[in-house]
Amino acid sequence: MDALRVVNLGVKVGGRKILQNINLYIQQGQTYVLFGPNGSGKSSLLSALIGHPSYNIYDGRIMFKGMDITTLPTDERVRMGMGIAFQNPPKVSGVKLIDILRHCARISGQSEEKIQEYAEMMKMADMLNRNVNSGFSGGEVKRSELLQLLLLNPDFIMLDEPDSGVDLDNISIVGDAIRKLLERDRSAEERQKSGLLITHTGHILKYVDADYGVILYKGRIACIGNPYDILEHIEEYGYEGCVEKCLRRFPNSNQK
Ligand SMILES: Nc1ncnc2c1ncn2[C@@H]1O[C@H](COP(=O)(O)OP(=O)(O)O)[C@@H](O)[C@H]1O
Ligand SMILES: [Mg+2]
Repeated sequence: MDALRVVNLGVKVGGRKILQNINLYIQQGQTYVLFGPNGSGKSSLLSALIGHPSYNIYDGRIMFKGMDITTLPTDERVRMGMGIAFQNPPKVSGVKLIDILRHCARISGQSEEKIQEYAEMMKMADMLNRNVNSGFSGGEVKRSELLQLLLLNPDFIMLDEPDSGVDLDNISIVGDAIRKLLERDRSAEERQKSGLLITHTGHILKYVDADYGVILYKGRIACIGNPYDILEHIEEYGYEGCVEKCLRRFPNSNQK
C-alpha cells in the first residue's frame, strides 16, 4: 500500500523556488533517509509535506494513503496519520510538556501510564512540568519531540535531523525511539509504519536502519539508492562529487 507519493512537486517560499520536480514514492513499512548539504531544501520539503502555510506548492501534488492532500490543512494531515519532529521547534511558554503529551495520548488513545513509560524511556520524566522547549538543551529538545511523537503514534513519521545536537550518551536513546516509532525491530512484512528521516551527517544510521537513501541537492532529487552506499559515497567524495558520480551512472535520473 502507498504511504506517500510525491509527484513533480515544486515549492516556493517568499516567491523564490526552493524545490523543483520532486518525485518520491514511499510504501507502507518503508523508511527513507534524506541526505543533503545545508540549504538544499530538506526542511522545506518536510514543511511542504505537513502543509506549512509559508511553503507554497506551485507545481505537482502530494498523495497520502492514496488521497490527494496537496491543499489539505496541517491538522487534517495529522489526523490522517502524519507526524513530524521539527529541526528547530518553537518554545511554547505557558504550555507544559505534560499538557502536550496528554493531548497527544488522547488523540492516539494511549493511557496515562504510557506517558510515564515513554517519558522514562526518553529520560524526560523530571521535565514534564517544564514549559515546552524553553530552556531545554539541544538534545532535550530532540528527545521532547520524539516523546510527543511516541504518544501521538503516527503512521507516517517525518524527522528533521533528530541526531543533531544530541551527545553520545543520548544518541542511543534517540535511536531506540526512532526504531520504535518506525517499527524497525519488526520484520518488513509486519511493519505498518513508514517515514522520512533527514540526516546531515548520517550518524543516526548507526542506530536506525533504512530501506532507501535520497540526496536532495539544490532543491532537486539527485540520487536514490541504498542508504549505506550513499552515505559511504558522501563521506568519500563529498556531496558535490557524489552527486556528479550518481548523475554519470544514471544520466536519466530525476535531475533536469
Ligand atoms: N521560511 C523561509 N523563509 C525564507 N526562506 C526560506 C524559508 N525556509 C527555507 N528557506 C530557504 O530555502 C532554502 C532551503 O532551506 P532549508 O529547507 O532549510 O534547507 P536544509 O534543511 O536542507 O538545510 C534556503 O535557501 C533557505 O534560506
Ligand atoms: Mg534543515
